[in-house]
Amino acid sequence: MTTTDKQQNSARLAGKTAVITGGASGMGKSTVLRFLAEGANVVIADFNHETGAGVIAHATELGFAENVLFIPTDVAVESDVEAALNAALETYGRLDIVFNNAGVGGAIGPLTETTTASWDYTMDVVAKGVFLGIKHAAAIMRAQGAGGSIINTASIAALSGDAGPLVYSAAKAAVVSMTKSAAVELAADHIRVNAICPGFIATPLADGGKPERTKESFSRAQPWPEYGQGDHIAGAALFFACDDSIFVTGDALVVDGGLTAAGPELSRKFPHTSGRNSKFAGVTKGSTGEKPELKKL
Ligand SMILES: NC(=O)c1ccc[n+]([C@@H]2O[C@H](COP(=O)([O-])OP(=O)(O)OC[C@H]3O[C@@H](n4cnc5c(N)ncnc54)[C@H](O)[C@@H]3O)[C@@H](O)[C@H]2O)c1
Repeated sequence: MTTTDKQQNSARLAGKTAVITGGASGMGKSTVLRFLAEGANVVIADFNHETGAGVIAHATELGFAENVLFIPTDVAVESDVEAALNAALETYGRLDIVFNNAGVGGAIGPLTETTTASWDYTMDVVAKGVFLGIKHAAAIMRAQGAGGSIINTASIAALSGDAGPLVYSAAKAAVVSMTKSAAVELAADHIRVNAICPGFIATPLADGGKPERTKESFSRAQPWPEYGQGDHIAGAALFFACDDSIFVTGDALVVDGGLTAAGPELSRKFPHTSGRNSKFAGVTKGSTGEKPELKKL
């Protein structure tokens, strides 16, 4: 076995083909580059031709010209989604991984100002787009008979109020729900379906055209000291894409640097009693009538 053979065999996605929607920017782009480095062939299915061409040029510079393809796609249009998945089959001969990741912030503002048109647009891209990706990936993977991995980008917005705009949050909750239902339905075909719930990730979607300011504020957004990056999501996507997660299906993995773990943030709101800056340590005994046993720090 040559060194190159060994390298190819150790690549976690060697011989696999992936379709990544929203692969022209942000966490999708990071995942395209990670999957290519791990030996996969990758089809980028994205609305934006210009940024798509940029990712293809970058991947070509890295030596992956033969392994990457851009297919202009609107994930809300069923025939586009079918065409993107079929392009993977026709070009690379198989389909193993579909990362339904494309998204927009969609409707914003008070709910009393939210129009049904902005509801429909948001739901079409964020929820229906994922449904279509799951539906057509499942059909192709089932016909192939070799299993597969479907990964959906949800959000921490799916998990609580005030973590994103109302319609976006509802659409992302639908993504988590579809992930679980599809995982159950497709398990017998060895097709795994998992979701990733990113926290604040400094991408063009989140930075409002001010990346440096966003990185600075996102560094302070969660307990983890460094800001969230597309690469952090690419790592989670790689885990779900490769056989390391062979017994994991129906999961919604939170990747947020501890943001949701922080919950009501008692240690910030009541720093004298809770957390690493607490002024006391010991045990309190509630309403038992017994005295607390505390030492001052
Ligand atoms: N950035 C964050 O903080 C954050 C947090 C939680 C979840 N998310 C989700 O992560 C995913 C990726 O977002 P990102 O932050 O990398 O954003 P991004 O804007 O950098 O990339 C999103 C990509 O999706 C594409 N896209 C949008 N609508 C499309 C459509 N109808 N059809 C095909 N492609 C379309 C865009 O062209 C773009 O290339 C989205 O689903 C987003 O909702 C982002």
